[in-house]
Amino acid sequence: MLESVRKAVFPAAGLGTRFLPATKSLPKEMLPLVDKPIIQYGVEEAVGSGIGDIVIVTGRGKSAIEDHFDVSFELEYLLEARGQKALLEAVRAISDKVNVAYIRQSQALGLGHAVLRSRDLVGDEAFAVVLADDVIVAPTPCLAQLLAIHRTFRAPVMAVMEVPPEQSPAYGMVQAEQLSERVFRVRDLVEKPKAGDSPSNLAIIGRYVLTPRIFDSLACVGPGAGSEIQLTDGLKHMLRETPLYAYKFEGTRYDAGDKLGFLKATVELALRRPDLGPGFRDYLRALPL
Ligand code: UTP
Repeated sequence: MLESVRKAVFPAAGLGTRFLPATKSLPKEMLPLVDKPIIQYGVEEAVGSGIGDIVIVTGRGKSAIEDHFDVSFELEYLLEARGQKALLEAVRAISDKVNVAYIRQSQALGLGHAVLRSRDLVGDEAFAVVLADDVIVAPTPCLAQLLAIHRTFRAPVMAVMEVPPEQSPAYGMVQAEQLSERVFRVRDLVEKPKAGDSPSNLAIIGRYVLTPRIFDSLACVGPGAGSEIQLTDGLKHMLRETPLYAYKFEGTRYDAGDKLGFLKATVELALRRPDLGPGFRDYLRALPL
């Protein structure tokens, strides 16, 4: 029987250079989108997909992430004493639902290296990988969509989306055979091809369901693009022996690790909020653009 996926790995040890100087002392994952840190959106997506065991790969200067998912006794005591129930629930909402474990990546040697660091905590079972920078708003959580494909094919699967050719240098791109409207069997992967060199318009985004076989591949591949150990290279290595699927997910993805993407996510998430949306919409409409 196929066991359900229980663990999600969140690589969060990158340097966040695109957000300097803010990320000199504040982890990029803790930048707020409206009133929640970026990483919380990803953790809520995992919880909404039935995954409560969270493994966060952290680095130096990332202790704010650990504090965020920990119980804040003084704060909760104070909110309780003041009768601020809604705030208390907002603070408790996430720490009550997850078990979080942390592992250090002492040097930012790449996403593939960060995933490899989680090997002992993941063990011998299928697991999800969530890049929290990719914030996804979807009718069904993106991870839940991938888990359904994983259950069907009993194989690793990653989320992809269509991008115009000039954007391929920013993504891992796939060469794939279409099986149905949204499902593809992956034949090859290319990390950040030049515009015009990409085998398709399907770009890999930060959601994966992987099998432990990936760890052997990541341990084999050396540094690739940017002298980093790339997850894409590990997947390409794994492809020699294991089928791999891509799923064109349903929903909207924001690249919150990039300034423009972050601004778009902030505006659109705020507009979707019942408490803020109407006032914010009026404000935007009145701007002399
Ligand atoms: P990014 O490519 O967004 O890199 O990494 P970054 O360092 O975080 O940000 P910039 O480009 O310098 O602004 C994609 C994901 O992989 C993680 C990051 O934390 C992010 O979630 N990562 C990357 C690691 O955990 N370790 C690494 O060595 C590299």
